[in-house]
Amino acid sequence: MQSIAVIGPGAVGSIAAAWLAQNPELEVTICARSPLSDLIIETPDGPVAAEPWVLTDPTGALTVDWVLIATKAYDAQSTAPWLERLVGTTTRIAVLQNGVEHRERFAGLVPPEQILPAVVDIPANRTGPGRVKQHRYGTIFVPAGADGDAFVKLFAHTKIAVATDTDIRTRMWQKLCLNSAGAVPALTLQATGPVWSPQLASILRALVEECAAVGRAEGADIPQEVIDRVVDNGSRSSPEGGRNSLEADRFYGRPMELDARNGVIVRLGRKHGIATPMNSFFVTLLGASGSPWVR
Ligand SMILES: NC(=O)c1ccc[n+]([C@@H]2O[C@H](COP(=O)([O-])OP(=O)(O)OC[C@H]3O[C@@H](n4cnc5c(N)ncnc54)[C@H](OP(=O)(O)O)[C@@H]3O)[C@@H](O)[C@H]2O)c1
Repeated sequence: MQSIAVIGPGAVGSIAAAWLAQNPELEVTICARSPLSDLIIETPDGPVAAEPWVLTDPTGALTVDWVLIATKAYDAQSTAPWLERLVGTTTRIAVLQNGVEHRERFAGLVPPEQILPAVVDIPANRTGPGRVKQHRYGTIFVPAGADGDAFVKLFAHTKIAVATDTDIRTRMWQKLCLNSAGAVPALTLQATGPVWSPQLASILRALVEECAAVGRAEGADIPQEVIDRVVDNGSRSSPEGGRNSLEADRFYGRPMELDARNGVIVRLGRKHGIATPMNSFFVTLLGASGSPWVR
């Protein structure tokens, strides 16, 4: 029996917890900020239901074998009271978040060598407490190695394609190239497809080119075709699984993962002496508009 605590039962956390709980050999506990009773995930093939333990008070948490963190990036520090109790010297901590700073976000909270960055591509959205629509089974990639292999085994019984990658840095940055472009619909509050124009394409391209330049300086392999694909995708209507999450968050007045998706490009660009005017422009404008909760 392995014990797993999932911190943050939103779209990604609920999906991970519900699928893991299908294996009776795994003891799944949800660490929630807001109460919920059970989980029902609407998958492409019908509902997957689960009734894991739910804790809303960290004082009741015990040390586990695995912690999966699935809060939004800006809520990383707020998980401290959970991590204090859940993490022992052998606990492995998978961070299921967007961006490229999975370890840095938890600096000072847990030992970095116990962290496993996870690159998640599971289009999903929350429809209520413990209720999630999983539009596609999707993928999760973790770094190659013993911990990565153990993480893959946890999900062996699920329909989510979980695998290791020998170059997780490249995978993170290629995903960030895609996510950085989300700043455009977040500002216009429209999917790019319907309002596509050559001018919009050049703005999108500049955002992604800057991301690629900084990613390459950080050691990621980002071929030109990755950039071209993101720009090409922008000309289409909403991708499978609905709207861009940055746009949706701004639309609904929720906090945005602006720093994890575009701010990081500006910050790391500065470190490498790479100019990032387009990302800086969007970070400034989005930060000054709409959502009162930009972080
Ligand atoms: N959704 C997707 O399709 C998708 C796809 C790929 C990657 N991602 C990435 O995955 C990460 C999670 O995204 P998401 O869409 O699942 O977010 P989400 O639906 O907003 O869920 C985040 C959850 O974390 C909870 N939370 C926040 N702070 C907490 C704390 N201190 N203790 C316990 N729970 C806490 C929130 O509680 P409340 O219920 O109180 O709000 C919420 O349930 C993000 O980095 C996102 O970019 C998402």
